[in-house]
Amino acid sequence: MNITIEKEKKTFSKDETVNMPKKEKKAVYETKQLNLWYGDNHALKNIDLDIYENEVTAIIGPSGCGKSTYIKTLNRMIELVPGVRTSGEISYRGRNIFDSDYRVEELRTKVGMVFQKPNPFPKSIYENVAYGPKIHGIRDKKILDQIVEKSLRGAAIWDEVKDRLHTNAYGLSGGQQQRLCIARCLAIEPDVILMDEPTSALDPISTLKVEELVQELKKNFSIIIVTHNMQQAARISDKTAFFLNGEVVEYSDTNKIFSNPSDKRTEDYITGRFG
Ligand SMILES: Nc1ncnc2c1ncn2[C@@H]1O[C@H](COP(=O)(O)OP(=O)(O)O)[C@@H](O)[C@H]1O
Ligand SMILES: [Mg+2]
Repeated sequence: MNITIEKEKKTFSKDETVNMPKKEKKAVYETKQLNLWYGDNHALKNIDLDIYENEVTAIIGPSGCGKSTYIKTLNRMIELVPGVRTSGEISYRGRNIFDSDYRVEELRTKVGMVFQKPNPFPKSIYENVAYGPKIHGIRDKKILDQIVEKSLRGAAIWDEVKDRLHTNAYGLSGGQQQRLCIARCLAIEPDVILMDEPTSALDPISTLKVEELVQELKKNFSIIIVTHNMQQAARISDKTAFFLNGEVVEYSDTNKIFSNPSDKRTEDYITGRFG
């Protein structure tokens, strides 16, 4: 009798190991019933969207559907636009970023952003990357040197610039400038990187480099990327949200969105029937 129990116990614990649930991904952002108005223009409508850590989340949809508005809301850059109103909630790591005591500076140290057009400062490559850490009070030259190297390596541009760190960033190609802007983002050790059509101004080879980089970066960061290039979304993202007229029509695993969408409008969009 005892022996049987022992046996059963053993079998049970073995099964338990086999059936151990995969470590659930944590939500970085939870958006609940978000609405946004520019004056009378209702630009975001009842958005519900959870974004998971260490994933690439792509936001696709036709021009003017609210993609940029949405990602600018995630770091509260949107509040720089006069006349903007929001309702609903965006939680970042469990705290509503619209709470009156939420310090926007704190959010910005956690959430970096890369824009459509590379926008380096008119300063040296080194200074572009060291700028953020300096603002955060880091003065030690050795530490700054380390941060600059680590960030440039992280953005896969170190080998191309290591011998010209003190030359002006404007001397770099567009693709290099964009990777420099990514390095500038990494220098503040963010948690999330927001990218708004980061490759739309780049040539195909630079685009490929940035896409490869995004794949690499998701090991350490959570990435949200707006793209109107559906092949890009299919290539590099884990999840895809399809926006249309300020609404999320469908949000799912990227594979599903591109192979078996649930909504007719998604299907029409990804097959190029409008856009
Ligand atoms: N700064 C702004 N002021 C007023 N309306 C804006 C502003 N930015 C965007 N909009 C409007 O909000 C809607 C969504 O725009 P946007 O988020 O830029 O779309 P997308 O990035 O998908 O092209 C559009 O109707 C656009 O005209
Ligand atoms: Mg846009």
